Amino acid sequence: MKMNGNLKSYLNKRRSEVDRVLESYLPGPTCEPALIHEAIRYSLFAGGKRIRPILCLAACESVGGRSEVALPFAAAIELLHTYSLVHDDLPAMDNDTYRRGKLTNHKMFGEATAILTGDALLTAAFTMIAEKGLAASVSPKKVLKIILELGSASGSTGMVGGQLNDIESQGKEGLYLEKLKEIHTHKTGVLIRAAIRIGGILGGAGPKKLSQLTAFGEKAGLAFQIADDILDVEGKEETLGKPVGNDQTRGKWTYPALVGVSRAKKEAAVLIEEALESLKSFGPEADSLRHIAYYITHREK
Ligand code: IPE
Ligand code: IPE
Ligand code: MG
Ligand code: MG
Ligand code: MG
Repeated sequence: MKMNGNLKSYLNKRRSEVDRVLESYLPGPTCEPALIHEAIRYSLFAGGKRIRPILCLAACESVGGRSEVALPFAAAIELLHTYSLVHDDLPAMDNDTYRRGKLTNHKMFGEATAILTGDALLTAAFTMIAEKGLAASVSPKKVLKIILELGSASGSTGMVGGQLNDIESQGKEGLYLEKLKEIHTHKTGVLIRAAIRIGGILGGAGPKKLSQLTAFGEKAGLAFQIADDILDVEGKEETLGKPVGNDQTRGKWTYPALVGVSRAKKEAAVLIEEALESLKSFGPEADSLRHIAYYITHREK
C-alpha cells in the first residue's frame, strides 16, 4: 500500500522540523567527550520515522493548538525513544546488528558506549523538556505534567516493564493473547499514548478531549506494535533498515506467532477503526491524526 501524497508531505515536513530542533539542541559531535556525542548522533540521525513526535504534534493540532508550541517537547520524546532502541538492540536484549539501515550502536561503538548512549539519550529527554519548558511560554504546571506523562510511560510500570516481560517470555511456552497484548501495550503502546497525550495537553485539551485522545493513543499504540511484528514477517529488510525474521529465530512472542499473520492484520485493523472512532467528535483539525492512524497499519517501514 502506497502512502497518499498529502500524508507523505505532512510526515516529511514534520520530520524535518523535529530533526532541526534535535540538531540544534544536542551538543555537536566534537563536544567532549566526543565519543559519546558521536554515538548519540549516530543512532539519532540514522533515519527514524519520528512517528512519536509527529503524533504529538498532530495531537496538539487536533485540539486546536499550535504545533510550534509542542515541537521541542515532541522532539524530546524522540530522544527517549531512540534510547529505547539502542538498549533494545544490545546483546543482552534482542542482540541485533542493524537498526535504521546502519550497524547498531553497540556494533559500531562497543557495548559500554551503547549503554551510555542510551543513558545519555534518556537523560537528555528530560533535560530538554526542563530547558525548553523554562524558555517557552508553557506554564510550569504543564511542564510538570509532561514530565510525569513521559516518566510514568517509560519507567518500570510502562515501557521498561514491557521490555522486561518481552525478554522474560522469550522462548517460553504457553503465552496467551491477553498477556501478549499486555506486553505490547507496555513496551510500545504506552509511550505512543504518552506522546499523543502530551500533544493534547500542550494544545489545551480539556478532560473530555484528553480522554478521547488517550483512547485513540491506546489503540493506535498497540496497533503500531502489531504492525511492527507483521513487518518482521512480511517486510523488506532494505526498506525497514533492520533485519526481518529475527522474532521467530529468537522465539519472541508476537501477534503473528500467536494468532498468524492474517488474524494479526485483522486485529490491527480493528484497533485502528476503534482508534478513529474515539476521534469522532473531533473536527477537521484532527485529520492529520486520522491519516497517521491509517499509516500505522499500512506502512512499509
Ligand atoms: C521501532 O520503532 C520499535 C518499536 C517500538 C516497534 P519505530 O518503528 O518507530 O522505529 P524508528 O524510530 O522509525 O526507527
Ligand atoms: C521494541 O520492540 C520496543 C522498544 C524498543 C521499547 P521490538 O524489539 O519489536 O522493536 P524492533 O523490532 O527491534 O524495532
Ligand atoms: Mg525488543
Ligand atoms: Mg528489537
Ligand atoms: Mg519488532
